[in-house]
Amino acid sequence: MHTLVFATNNQHKVDEIQSLVGNDFHIIPLKEAGIDIDIPEPHDNLQDNAAEKARTIYQLTQNNCFSEDTGLEIDFLHGAPGVKSARYAGEDRNFQANIDKVLVELISTENRSAQFRTIVCLIWENKEYYFEGICKGSISKVMHGAKGFGYDPIFIPDGASKSFAEMNMEEKNVYSHRQKAVTQLFSFLKAL
Ligand code: IMP
Repeated sequence: MHTLVFATNNQHKVDEIQSLVGNDFHIIPLKEAGIDIDIPEPHDNLQDNAAEKARTIYQLTQNNCFSEDTGLEIDFLHGAPGVKSARYAGEDRNFQANIDKVLVELISTENRSAQFRTIVCLIWENKEYYFEGICKGSISKVMHGAKGFGYDPIFIPDGASKSFAEMNMEEKNVYSHRQKAVTQLFSFLKAL
């Protein structure tokens, strides 16, 4: 079994990804790797932020590793919150405040189209590789469900009749942006 450090402190993301890859790879989150840092996300695009996270962890551990950066891109808001998704309503990264801000900004429109976009950066044997996953959908008018994290209660993927927060992990993985990017990552690794 291969081990890969995943440059995140978000246990939801670790669980989603470990459930996808089964026993072929052991995903080690930062805490388990003994790293207690909040990696900065200073850039104005997902790819550079993903690279920053992976490079930081590669330098610290010298271990093959990957990172991901995800944004919710809303058409009516010209792609916002995008790369600022985590801190949309303020530096404390409060999920509820972020959702409230989005719902207020969309209150007067029927154009609810949006997408989640994930960029994964892999550093394998000192080389960098990138993978992208997109999930198209729409923003609901009120919150639905209590599972998941972030914007899950207001995001309904195309082809589904409920929000991500009403789905269990297996259901969310059928549609999810992260699943699409990570599936490419692991197909790539298996082909090596
Ligand atoms: P990050 O910087 O990649 O951790 O993601 C930025 C923000 O996007 C997170 O704080 C969440 O609010 C949101 N986000 C990322 N992935 C998801 C998801 O799968 N569902 C809902 N919100 C998400």
